[in-house]
Formats: sequence, C-alpha cells, structure tokens
Amino acid sequence: MPAAESEVAGILAGYRLPAKIPFGAELAPIMFRADYRGGKWHAGALVPFADVPINPASTALQFGQQAFEGMKAYVKAESSPVLFRPNLNWRRFARSAERLKMPVVPAKLFAEALSSVVISLADFIPVERGQSLYLRPTMFGLDPHFAVKGSDRFVFLLIASPSDAYYSSPIRIMIERENFRAARGGTGDVKVGGNYAASLKANENCVALGFDQSLWLDPTAGKNIEELSAMNFMAVIDGELHTPALSGSLLEGVTRDSLMKLANHLGIESTARVMPVDELVKDIESGRCSELFACGTGAIVAPISAIGEASGREWRLQHIGVMSSELKDELLDIQEGKTADPFGWVVGAADLKALAKFIKR
Ligand SMILES: Cc1ncc(COP(=O)(O)O)c(C=O)c1O
Repeated sequence: MPAAESEVAGILAGYRLPAKIPFGAELAPIMFRADYRGGKWHAGALVPFADVPINPASTALQFGQQAFEGMKAYVKAESSPVLFRPNLNWRRFARSAERLKMPVVPAKLFAEALSSVVISLADFIPVERGQSLYLRPTMFGLDPHFAVKGSDRFVFLLIASPSDAYYSSPIRIMIERENFRAARGGTGDVKVGGNYAASLKANENCVALGFDQSLWLDPTAGKNIEELSAMNFMAVIDGELHTPALSGSLLEGVTRDSLMKLANHLGIESTARVMPVDELVKDIESGRCSELFACGTGAIVAPISAIGEASGREWRLQHIGVMSSELKDELLDIQEGKTADPFGWVVGAADLKALAKFIKR
C-alpha cells in the first residue's frame, strides 16, 4: 500500500465519532484533494484532513476566487451509502467555477471524490432519522499576485462532516430593505464565498433587531423577494406552494427544486414567480398566505413564524410547519430509502462508474 494510502487507513482505524455531532461541526479526519496546474487536473487522492498552506497573495485570499457546494450522503443500516441528486451539485459547482474564471472539476473527478470519501467514511455516517454525512466540495485559486486577474493553479477539496439532523426551530425573518447580497449580473446565482461575506453585516443587524435571518430583495427594484442568506424561500398561498422565480441573482437550490416537484407529485400546485414582498404581506393580512418556510440542504425546511421590518412591525403566520413538515418528511423518506424514489434522485456512492454517469446526466 502506498504511504499516503496507509496513512489514511491508519487515521480511519483510529477515528471515533464524538458523542455529540451538531450539524456541520465535526470535520472528518480525511478529505479528497486534486490539483489543477499546467492547464489540467492531476490525479486526486484521499489525504489526511489538515490545514492547506496558502500564499497570502493568492487569488483566493486577495480576490475571493473561491467556490463551494453543500450536499449530503445517507446510509441506512445494512445498506451502502447513497447521495441525493449529486448531478445538480456538480452542475452548480461547474457554473460557480466558470463564473469566477476557474476550471470545471470534471464529472469523473467529482464522482471519484464523492465515492472515495463517502465509502471510506461509511462506518462513520450516523444512521438516525435526518443524520447524514454532510459534504463540502471546495475550490480556490492559488497563484500569488496583486494584479486583478485569474490564477493558473487551483485546489479542489472534498471535506466531510458526520452530522446530526439539523432541526430548525421556527425563525423570524426581517425584510432587508437597505443592503443587497447580490447584484444584477453579479454572482448571486452561483455559490461563491463573496455572497456570504456580503450578507454577514446585514444579518448581524437583523439579529440585533430581534430577528433571526434577513430576507433579501431583488437588487434591481428592491421590491421582490429573493431568498435568505443560505436558504430559498417558500410561501403557502391559497393552499398552493409559491417560490420566487430564478432571477439571475438568487441561488437555484436543490431542495427548492425537489420540494416543488414533490409537491406536484402529492397533488399540490407549485409556482415559481416574481413575488413582490408588499403583496405577500397583504396576503398574510388577508389570510390567503397561511405559511412561510425556508429550504436548503442543511435543515431541508426551516419554518418561519413571523416576517417583519426593521421598524419592528411584524406579521405572524397562521400555520407554522404544516405543509413544510409534510414535504420534509416525504423528502427525507426518499433520501433515507424509506419509501420508493419515483424521481430517480438517489444514487449509490459505491459504484464509481454508475455515479459518474449519473452526475453527468
Ligand atoms: C444562498 C443560498 N440559497 C439557497 C440555498 C439552498 O440550496 P440547496 O437546497 O441546494 O442547499 C443555499 C444553500 O446552499 C444557499 O446558500
């Protein structure tokens, strides 16, 4: 066995999951790494999880040339681990890379990273309801220079986190009318670090005002709902599911798409459309809008109990976690293999060839 492989095997042999694994807090002791240089990706491998040396003048640190993804692997007792719609994460990761002038990680390399990390950590994937191996594909530019241009060298990492279920207690959201996390023609529709950095200050302000998270509006008119800082937004209006249409400045969530398709499958109409925030407030006042929730890979759904303004004005929802809990349970049943998967969303991690084919489709 080559030295690196036996080092990884030794690390895994000595690894024990801590008693508590809050969502995204425990970092697995191994990761996958592949490097891009000389115009091509070089063979990747499992390596010990460790700090990555980085030049202080690198494009990642100076210009935010960085992208990432968030996805989950599940394992049920006596079956091998599965991934949920990894093709969508790969496609989004590719779009993020291209937007920041980074090379696309080929589907085969992405599949190899997923398969090797997930299968190596199979014994450490917790199996209770909602627990998973959270996966964070990450990529950044290495070249050191102060001229605003791209890089010729990049690192791709797949980091993993054995995680407990993330139950979001109902959140109170504040309509953010001053700041914008994204710009028209900017990077809001891809998953890059700068979007999150741009949200931090406003989010801190909304927490200081007694809310939990900011609700971002479109950066052009400042009128239409976009999303939360790390989740998409959904409303139940007249018993139907409504979500903001993709605007070019909000992220196309895997969970958003899955919940809309699942709702249709369950006989619930779902619509993606322009959603003026003032119209939504009127719909809450009239009772047409009964429920709001956010959705994303981590929590699947986060029920919203109230929506408000910086002035302190607030509208409470009639229902908290009614349709959203039903959708969450249905989705989790598919992810955990407790029910049939009518959409073909779940794919095994062990068969590398089949996984690479699935990812490319
Ligand atoms: C800004 C933003 N919107 C929406 C989402 C939800 O996306 P997904 O369902 O793919 O996790 C996320 C999470 O990745 C996010 O960071």
